Amino acid sequence: MPSYTKSHVQFELNGEHVTVEEPDPKAVLGDYLRLERGLTGLQMPCRQGGCGSCTVILSPIRCSSSDSSSSSSSSGKKKKKDAVHVAAANHAGDDDGGSGGGDDDEPLKHRPINACLLPLCAVDGKRVTTVEGIGSTKHGLHPVQQAIVTHNGTQCGFCTPGMVMSMYGLVVNNSQPTAQQVEDQLDGNLCRCTGYRPILDGFQTFANCNNKNNNKRMCNKSGEQCASGCDKEGDMEELGSKRMEHWELPDARLMVSRDGLKWVRAVSLDELYALLQTTKHKGRTIRMVRGNTSSGIYPPPAVDVLADISHISKLMELSVQEKGISIGGAVPITDFMVLLERNQSLSPSYGPLLKHLKRVAHNQVRNIGSVAGNLMLTHAHGEFASDISTILMAAEAKLRVGFAWENGDEHVISLEQFFNLSLDGAVIVEIFIPVMKASARFFTYKVALRRVNAHALLNAGFKLAVNSTKGVFESNCVIVYGGVRPYPQRARKTEAYLAGKKVFDPKVFADSVQILQRELVVDPALGRTEYRTRLLAAFFYKAFLSLFPQDTIPPRLRSSIVEGDPSEYPVSKPIPKLSAGLQATGEAQYLDDMVVGGSLYATFVQATVANAALKSIDPSKALAMKGVITFISAASLKADKYCNLVSEDEEVFASERVLYYGQAVGLIVANTKALADEAARLVVVTYSDVQKPILTFEDAIAADSFYENRRVDLQIGEILNLFYCGKLKNGVGVQASVGHQYHFHLETQRAICIPGEDNSMDVYSSTQNPSQVQHCVGVGLNQPQHKITVHVKRLGGAYGSKLNRSVPIAMACALAADKLQKPVKLILDIGTNMQVVGGRSPYRCDYKIGVMKDGRITSLQLRILNNHGAHFDFEYPMLEAIPVFIDNVYKIPNWDIKGKAARTNLPACTWMRGPVFVETVFMMETMMEHVASVLGMPADLVREVNMFKKGDTTLAGQYLEFCNVKEVLDSIKESSEYETRVKQVKEFNSLNQWVKRGISLIPVKFSASWTAVQHIALVNIYPDGSISIHQSGCEMGQGLDVKVAQVAAMTLGSIVEGGLDMANIKVQTTTTVIANNVGESGGSVTSELCAMAVQVACNKLVERLRVTSRMLTTLGRKPSWRELIEAALTSGIDLQARGRIYPGPNQNGPFQYLSFAAAVTEVEVDILTGDTRILRGDILLDCGKSLNPAIDIGQVHGAYVQGIGFYLSEEYQIDAANGKLTTNSTWNYKVPSSKDIPHDFRASLLPNSSNPSGFLRSKFSGEPPYGTACSVLFAVQQAVAAGREEIGANDWCSLSAPATVEKVALAANVPTSFLSLSLQSQ
Ligand SMILES: Cc1cc2nc3c(=O)[nH]c(=O)nc-3n(C[C@H](O)[C@H](O)[C@H](O)COP(=O)(O)OP(=O)(O)OC[C@H]3O[C@@H](n4cnc5c(N)ncnc54)[C@H](O)[C@@H]3O)c2cc1C
Ligand code: FES
Ligand code: FES
Repeated sequence: MPSYTKSHVQFELNGEHVTVEEPDPKAVLGDYLRLERGLTGLQMPCRQGGCGSCTVILSPIRCSSSDSSSSSSSSGKKKKKDAVHVAAANHAGDDDGGSGGGDDDEPLKHRPINACLLPLCAVDGKRVTTVEGIGSTKHGLHPVQQAIVTHNGTQCGFCTPGMVMSMYGLVVNNSQPTAQQVEDQLDGNLCRCTGYRPILDGFQTFANCNNKNNNKRMCNKSGEQCASGCDKEGDMEELGSKRMEHWELPDARLMVSRDGLKWVRAVSLDELYALLQTTKHKGRTIRMVRGNTSSGIYPPPAVDVLADISHISKLMELSVQEKGISIGGAVPITDFMVLLERNQSLSPSYGPLLKHLKRVAHNQVRNIGSVAGNLMLTHAHGEFASDISTILMAAEAKLRVGFAWENGDEHVISLEQFFNLSLDGAVIVEIFIPVMKASARFFTYKVALRRVNAHALLNAGFKLAVNSTKGVFESNCVIVYGGVRPYPQRARKTEAYLAGKKVFDPKVFADSVQILQRELVVDPALGRTEYRTRLLAAFFYKAFLSLFPQDTIPPRLRSSIVEGDPSEYPVSKPIPKLSAGLQATGEAQYLDDMVVGGSLYATFVQATVANAALKSIDPSKALAMKGVITFISAASLKADKYCNLVSEDEEVFASERVLYYGQAVGLIVANTKALADEAARLVVVTYSDVQKPILTFEDAIAADSFYENRRVDLQIGEILNLFYCGKLKNGVGVQASVGHQYHFHLETQRAICIPGEDNSMDVYSSTQNPSQVQHCVGVGLNQPQHKITVHVKRLGGAYGSKLNRSVPIAMACALAADKLQKPVKLILDIGTNMQVVGGRSPYRCDYKIGVMKDGRITSLQLRILNNHGAHFDFEYPMLEAIPVFIDNVYKIPNWDIKGKAARTNLPACTWMRGPVFVETVFMMETMMEHVASVLGMPADLVREVNMFKKGDTTLAGQYLEFCNVKEVLDSIKESSEYETRVKQVKEFNSLNQWVKRGISLIPVKFSASWTAVQHIALVNIYPDGSISIHQSGCEMGQGLDVKVAQVAAMTLGSIVEGGLDMANIKVQTTTTVIANNVGESGGSVTSELCAMAVQVACNKLVERLRVTSRMLTTLGRKPSWRELIEAALTSGIDLQARGRIYPGPNQNGPFQYLSFAAAVTEVEVDILTGDTRILRGDILLDCGKSLNPAIDIGQVHGAYVQGIGFYLSEEYQIDAANGKLTTNSTWNYKVPSSKDIPHDFRASLLPNSSNPSGFLRSKFSGEPPYGTACSVLFAVQQAVAAGREEIGANDWCSLSAPATVEKVALAANVPTSFLSLSLQSQ
């Protein structure tokens, strides 16, 4: 064994040389940066590599390390004859001036990576750049930061530093990227607020076709790009670094040890084998680490030694030989892709492999995660449908594996052998991908819940070798499927059958598909059995069809084999750019970025059953751990119940009965978060009377479990008499249903509580409802409310979840802080957050419709069920709101609605953007589609004959004095070229058999309700003329701060020359000291109400200042703001004013005003797989006279894209046995990525609109566009209907939300017998 003398980690961080003495080998880079270095720009909401918020850049440092000598062991530097060798970058070997660093062949120098996955020890000898290192508000923004600012690409801002760093990672390597590269760069970054379009627009300014940035930093003095002089630093690459002198790294070897765990970096294969052997001889366990990205999927097993293999030159080699290409056992996927790209012409398999790899994980993972790591991960977890394993097996890759117990003897094996081998002590040294004969064809397929950054539900690879002279298959075809059974499976019998058979014989296909289906029977344990079985045949069909010469394939079939290349999607057409000013430097402080001296950390202990009595809780093992401070539960507290404002008492900790899986039964408090997490797992909870949980509508009906007094029962008109009119004698009757949706705010629920003197408590809460938090914490601590102060700076997303659900988190945290009289932080991790906070609640609506021949709906009978969970959460009259929204934009005379809410053993569902509105619009529009289908009328016509007109009254009693729904509809029809496109869709569908399009136009109405809601503002003017505003709303990305500042600037600026510069205004943290007894922030109306309160305050100031302004006005010239304030001060004018609003009822009905919006969405659906692409989305919102069009357009984009997730991909799965949410991570819950938005995405505000009933004639923007997003699902439904026509099914077929790829393919229901290769019959 060599001597490992170095026990500290050295690296360059934003230009500084950093040394960390004996770090914790378990620590990840992100924690170190945030906790030890205070670099809180990066966020770590998921810790799974799933969201990209933690993106930083990892780069090499050129140094004269001894690596090259130390790695030139017998197995290290021998180069094969006739082979072209290069080394992959990003390891010590790339810096040695030999094969890597600076070499033209170096694939990628600066790599965006996930700091939540990369171990701190792995950055030794590297350069790390964080968002703070590239620009700041003080020293000037980096052009990438400036671009996202200028294009209004941030809302809550939690994802922004990650977005910026991903983009920086592109331009720092390549100052002239293509538009496509820009679009592809964000495949690992999620944003829940913006809908991506403004971010992409901003970043597209760097594309070589648009680049006006010249890669220069913005000057903080001039606000322009640095020309010369003040910015001496040169090109983009160097901006992140202070150009440190390159320092010497004494040795690439490293051994770090803490608490019995070692991190050892071997620099040669011999050293690695020796390390494996000695560890085993000592009876210890060892795990090799390359990128450590697998820990984002499966928590790694506990071991004694972690062996870093990234500096072993041999494992980093890439080579190109006549017979194939090979990569070393530590080569990152990105480097493999570059090699494939450069050598595509060598083998028919290399291009398809490359294309498939673009859909593996995302840039950050691929940049450091290795091919070998993927194979080993699959070996350890057979159920993981690895893309890489499947496609490499199909490409007949060979592995060279060395075995430590055989002193490094190497064996060359196939992937099939690999998966059947015990791999104890094995090292994948090399992966060889042979060149295929030019006559062979190679195809791969993948279906996933999302286009990128999503694991496969099923994948496949086909090598189809054809003897073109004889027109038969050769004997060496390879067919591999992943996701059918554990490990990739070769279809050996099908392969054997094909040998010698005629390629274009339809019978050969028909027979072989049957053999395939018999041979590869889907393992039900993997789930989605029927869907996977269908996909199996569909992939096979596509591969077969692809063998035909293009000109012989009937046009109707051609599109089913043209796989949309995700890398070309979506390069959106230019749309008008709007500018706005938000900052993107990572300087914005969120709750967990606060440094609180002496803070302790808390973690919930959660129930693992859903419906049982609590028998006992034993925290003794946890309390025995060093550093664990206390455990609190209901038993240790006097008052932990609180009223959640809907007259329902909830417990912070379950006391007698557990009502849902994940419910908090206690709280562990410890010195660190990691310790608290570990200790919480050691608390032993036992249960008795464990009952089967009530989870579904069916369960609730069977158990008759419904909330009393939460029902709606509405009868209007004479339903029975009208039911028999028209063509539909018995009415149409079926069901519309929508599922759960998780808010997916990147900043999870959290609180910091700091006890003060005299039993006071400062609560920093991520809440939308500070007044309620103050009230409930007061109740919990049994203290008057004046001792509780709640502060809210900003939220990293909320969408309704932080209205009521933030309360128990703040209360638990306060109870702990009060008990210990120390500050306590309670930050939920994403899994806990998803499990304990209910999302949007599912609805089911059984309907019957009475309708006339001309499409007029005369009566509706609706039976609506809602699954609300274990507590009733909404203070909003949830079911009572059904009549407010259910009529959408239609006048229907007769109604019979009965609705009730199921009490189930799930966490309480809560508000989510447009609650009740979104779901009821979907119900109504399903009925519109259904009527159209049954009457054989266009759905648009059915909508139009039923549509409201000015002078009508809505179901909820609102008189429509202003009703411009028709105007909105006509306007979007024209701007989206709707009629023409409807024809084009029909034509497309007649020309294509298995790929169909659908186009849908959906109008919506939304009602603004703000009666009896108080909002308060306090405006202070200081002697220097600067202004601070306190207001009662919570800024969570909706642009509230900007809007109130605009209103203040406009109002105060009216009495001075030149108006008032917004730079004078600062909007302060929201606090209950100033904003007491105020309404929550939600329902889209807060910006308007707070702006009104600010205007009231500013008007008071204007009144006081007006006389002074007049006095100072000379020759018609008003005073400047500074002159006015100076004079006002000397006159003793009070420069503080409070504004309050408490709106009364509106004369036209229960609402202040109605807002209308509409969307046209066009989709393309692969009928065989369910894969859906949104080709174009047009949304038009009547926003009145918008207060800030950039903000409002941002809201439109964001709401519509959240809707895309709800309607297509966001699927909740709950374990029927115990109520556990199994889709509780970024790995299995798929919100839309930047590749899922419409290819052509156009959002606009209705021009020349005004709203006499709104503030400054504006209307809200946050929720109406969400309702229009169901047009996505209805467009898919139309496409499915067109697909069903191909199999002779013309009956009504509806989709429930979410219409996942699985549901869509199953609804299309194409039997295998229809997959015929009798081309003449087409
Ligand atoms: C968010 C995310 C999305 C993903 N999406 C996909 C996807 O769509 N499709 C897909 O196929 N995969 C996907 N993956 C898996 C990804 O490809 C793997 O995590 C990655 O390839 C593992 O490489 P690594 O170097 O990080 O391995 P590590 O995590 O470092 O190691 C993984 C295992 O391999 C062992 N190992 C590593 N190298 C060797 C070697 N040379 N010899 C012997 N053992 C070795 C390690 O000991 C460890 O047990 C995803 C991963 C994440 C985090
Ligand atoms: S925190 Fe790292 S990817 Fe989400
Ligand atoms: S701005 Fe992207 S998550 Fe909020």
